[in-house]
Amino acid sequence: MSATWLNNAIFYEIYPQSFCDSNGDGIGDIPGIISKLDYVKSLGCNALWINPCFDSPFKDAGYDVRDYKKVAPRYGTNEDLQQLFQVAHEKGIHVLLDLVPGHTSEEHPWFLESAKAEKNEYSDRYIWTSNAFMPGDGMPFVGGEFPRNGTYILNFFKCQPALNYGYLKKNFNWQKSMDDPACQATLEAMLDVMRFWLDLGCDGYRVDMAASLVKNDDEAYSGTSKIWKKVREMLDAEYPEAALLAEWNMPQFSLKAGFDMDFYLDWYGNGYSSLMRDYEGNMDSEIRQPNNSYFKRDAKSDVSRFLADYLPKYEASKQDGLWCFITCNHDSLRPAPALDVEELKLAYAFLFTMPGAPFVYYGDEIGMRYRKLPTHEGGYHRTGSRTPMQWAPGKNLGFSKAEPEKLYLPVDPDLDAPTVAEQEEDPDSLLQFTRTLLHLRLDTPDLQAYSPFEVVSAKEGERLFAYRRGKLLCAVNPSEQWQSLALDGDYETLFFYGDCTIKDGALILDGPAFAVLKPAN
Ligand code: NOJ
Repeated sequence: MSATWLNNAIFYEIYPQSFCDSNGDGIGDIPGIISKLDYVKSLGCNALWINPCFDSPFKDAGYDVRDYKKVAPRYGTNEDLQQLFQVAHEKGIHVLLDLVPGHTSEEHPWFLESAKAEKNEYSDRYIWTSNAFMPGDGMPFVGGEFPRNGTYILNFFKCQPALNYGYLKKNFNWQKSMDDPACQATLEAMLDVMRFWLDLGCDGYRVDMAASLVKNDDEAYSGTSKIWKKVREMLDAEYPEAALLAEWNMPQFSLKAGFDMDFYLDWYGNGYSSLMRDYEGNMDSEIRQPNNSYFKRDAKSDVSRFLADYLPKYEASKQDGLWCFITCNHDSLRPAPALDVEELKLAYAFLFTMPGAPFVYYGDEIGMRYRKLPTHEGGYHRTGSRTPMQWAPGKNLGFSKAEPEKLYLPVDPDLDAPTVAEQEEDPDSLLQFTRTLLHLRLDTPDLQAYSPFEVVSAKEGERLFAYRRGKLLCAVNPSEQWQSLALDGDYETLFFYGDCTIKDGALILDGPAFAVLKPAN
């Protein structure tokens, strides 16, 4: 079963720290998000994904949860979050929270109990080896910190001990099998967390590191998939309209395991990366030349690298759910300034006309730029994509009334830093372009989630890429050179950008351009 609202869903990702500060303490908060819902709606977005907003020591920006059932005081209260669900629903906006099931903070009470020498209810909630000098059987581990005579396995940073869902293949006695009561209890605890927010009005979850639950899993992730199928059963029975979105990037597994959606993530060198972020230094916050991304005007690349990665996975998973394109997220480098505004327009036109549900990362709609900054809250190279939203010229670019030195991160100091207010006034702005494209998608069933996708033209060495969505024909030319596509029938233009003409049975894209054609009646 799948949440019916996903067919026409367009998501907006909000990093709560940096979106809108309503109380002047320098950090974004939930009332701030509520105050901007009309803006989100005006873009054409009808769903939100909010990064973790729960109590945490924030050593990994909130992906180190200390209390799954409590909103972090810096963002507000549980009542504020409930209010957000309610106001969002009144405006026709669904809200996904971020579930972190693979690990907690090292300060979570479960972990502190499990670290005690005496056996207790939580002793096996995490993965502990059988003595303090034993390595983690190939997994990162920490020893020597607690009275318990064992080392514990990490799921990510040092502050994030792995929760215990068991091992598919056991090599040591300290490794539990998946059906061990302790591992079952971990799953029950996570189901309880999910029910808690669903009962208060949340519409589902983006699931952090969804593939990471069962250790020593096989190549098809059969252990971890078994867990997600159980989660799916619970949702189908109790919350049939709740949506489940995986951070997995393997739709051939995640969607079969019961997720409604998975992300197409920027894994350096993969198909998605070849479109927007094909430059050396992508992982160490350097935007170096040459940039050979497909959407770079003067790049030498065609779409073959993208298609070789995308098509087999799309074909293998399209019956099972949605594989979703993102403009960026809180873990990758923003597409600007590596792509300029005109290049971004074509890239977005492509992203927003592809299958799945598109995700706009806050600020990408105005071309907010990646900034090289010192690390903050475990961000490292990701910090530069997490700066405050740029609402309007003036103090802190409208993000907060706090003194600039108190901000979560500094705002972009450039005199020409893009802002929402300025782009609202400019009909040619990236903001207006994004809005037009997203509304086109909202109004056009053939451009929506499940409508079929088919490659029409992607010739080796050619910059033109044409694809069909339902009965519509989309074509993009990111280059300065004239490109043409022979048409297989009579078409008229539904949308175009740049110099596009239909002449003598061909579509001509003269320079950077994008067109959506519909069959002529
Ligand atoms: C993926 C999240 O997107 C990232 O921000 C986080 O650091 C890791 N998972 C660990 O939870």
